[in-house]
Amino acid sequence: MAYINENYLKLKAGYLFPEIARRVKVFNESNPEGAKRLIRCGIGDVTEPLPEAVRYAMHDAVDEQGVPETFKGYGPEQGYDFLRNAIADHDFKARGLNVEPDEIFISDGSKCDTGNILDIFGAGNKIAITDPVYPVYVDTNVMIGNTGDANENGAYEGLVYLKCNAENGFVPEIPAEPVDLIYLCYPNNPTGATATRAQLEAWVAYALKNKAILLYDAAYEAFIQDPAIPRSIYEIEGARDCAIEFRSFSKNGGFTGVRCAFIVIPKTLMGRKKDGTPQAIHPLWSRRHSTKFNGASYIVQRGAAALYTDEGKSQVRALIEHYMGNAALLVQACKEAGLSVFGGINAPYVWVGCPTGVTSWQMFDKMLNEANVVITPGAGFGSAGEGYFRISAFNTRANVEEVCRRIKALQ
Ligand code: MLT
Repeated sequence: MAYINENYLKLKAGYLFPEIARRVKVFNESNPEGAKRLIRCGIGDVTEPLPEAVRYAMHDAVDEQGVPETFKGYGPEQGYDFLRNAIADHDFKARGLNVEPDEIFISDGSKCDTGNILDIFGAGNKIAITDPVYPVYVDTNVMIGNTGDANENGAYEGLVYLKCNAENGFVPEIPAEPVDLIYLCYPNNPTGATATRAQLEAWVAYALKNKAILLYDAAYEAFIQDPAIPRSIYEIEGARDCAIEFRSFSKNGGFTGVRCAFIVIPKTLMGRKKDGTPQAIHPLWSRRHSTKFNGASYIVQRGAAALYTDEGKSQVRALIEHYMGNAALLVQACKEAGLSVFGGINAPYVWVGCPTGVTSWQMFDKMLNEANVVITPGAGFGSAGEGYFRISAFNTRANVEEVCRRIKALQ
């Protein structure tokens, strides 16, 4: 008999984006004219081509793989030094932050990293997540057995939900009860909110006091426009002793299809054994990474390193400007349509209040059927997302301009 992991049976019907894809497929099949006009602003997937610097670097890397003198087989599981050094220098040291290259682990994506990290944490941790939240944090905790069943609102027993709403600027209050692992994502997916230095200082102080660990997802840091907003949790004093940071090349470098990301685990970061004695997290993740992962592809890592060259940096700036220009247009159009709007200023997501009395899935259907635009219903990110919908600014300018026209025309 082959027994299954029954935790999977606790998962709600579908991961949010496949569920959206299913509804869009039904729409397309039953409405060929609407299908032709369809514009997708649901999943945050980039539309602009890979930066030229990346393409050239990847071409060169392919050629290196074509001759015996430079051919490479298995690489270092943690990532090639050329990429780890570039990240440490440009993302951290250049900003006065102390992150060493060997504290950086290259991977094939932040979705995998934020899920896989749970491998090295024991059972019995009290896990806090924001609500609304990127659904991967929740589902991976369900899969590994850190929760009970979901209630009728879709909230899982055993998780601590930190409510984010317009009143708290979509940055949660520090919980009254002690928690052990806390997922924070800023700039935030889905709300587009950012956390101030003072708010992050409060979280770091809480984590240090409670010997908790912050799982800080900074996948959207490149979209921050306001220099006062921290781009890394390590800008906060003490964070090296209480935080893991997740970063991704998906959105800044257009790598959603190429796949490359990294985690920072400071060597000073400690977890606890059952008897309460400290244990460094870094060697555990290193062991996990080298056992279950054989490293991101050499060609891809060469492409990622090219993002840190002068040409690469200016091409990334152009991509960010493009998507943030889209976000500004979407914010403006929603305001003109009389909707309440959040985000879209330091993040590529625009978070919009549904008209009174309309649920977020009703809004999804209305946008799909009447405007032929795919958005993401807020309820898909948690019960506190009800009453909102998310528009992704990852699109072509022409599509965004058309979406703006349709939003303003919507009754
Ligand atoms: C989103 O739309 O929330 C993101 O594209 C999902 C992801 O990055 O995995």
